[in-house]
Amino acid sequence: MGIDLTEDDAPSRIVEAAVERFGSVDVLVNCAGIFPSTPALEISRNEWERVFGVNLRAPFLCSQEMARWAVSNGRAGSIVNVASSAGVVARPGVAHYCASKAALIMLTKALAVEWAEHGIRVNAVAPGLVETPGVAELTSTEQGREEHHRKIARIPLARPGEPREIAEAVLYLTSASYVTGETLFVDGGYSAGRTLRD
Ligand SMILES: NC(=O)c1ccc[n+]([C@@H]2O[C@H](COP(=O)([O-])OP(=O)(O)OC[C@H]3O[C@@H](n4cnc5c(N)ncnc54)[C@H](O)[C@@H]3O)[C@@H](O)[C@H]2O)c1
Repeated sequence: MGIDLTEDDAPSRIVEAAVERFGSVDVLVNCAGIFPSTPALEISRNEWERVFGVNLRAPFLCSQEMARWAVSNGRAGSIVNVASSAGVVARPGVAHYCASKAALIMLTKALAVEWAEHGIRVNAVAPGLVETPGVAELTSTEQGREEHHRKIARIPLARPGEPREIAEAVLYLTSASYVTGETLFVDGGYSAGRTLRD
């Protein structure tokens, strides 16, 4: 099912499709995100709104739709937002992305506190560098590849993560019954501090 998450009816279509197929919605993972690389001096209003539309507004509206369904059907639920280490460690060239992921981390806490009484837990995973199709696109130029190697040099575990390692963290949070409002950093130690390597 291909749905553009920035369209108004996307959240209701997603929840309706899940209920139709599975009979209920117990888990929502807000994973889609965009990370265009543009110097802050050149970010247009349109690009800023696109980044916030996909990375922050869509996770909020999908969570709200899922929570409305859960509350009106007396069901518990678990939401996992895919944030980023860029939500706590700033990087040049992606000011809108960093800001959207920082906001997503706070949104995770705010919804966790507000929806706890309904049995809905809200958590986030914050990946560091993970080799995905989106990242492969960024490394399609010589400059992109150089930056990629510099990023890897800053990761204490000295390698990018694998998508499977992020999925495992998501799976843990979906079933961690006493964890809510938490952001689990799955970034090889990147957000913990600097290494002494060059
Ligand atoms: N790969 C990394 O190094 C990394 C690091 C930190 C956080 N993240 C986060 O992980 C998530 C996944 O990133 P990825 O690396 O797999 O990226 P990706 O570009 O490989 O995949 C992103 C997915 O989001 C979907 N998407 C984008 N805009 C959409 C829209 N308007 N409607 C519906 N779907 C849309 C795309 O179709 C694609 O399937 C993102 O939220 C990203 O910010 C990735």
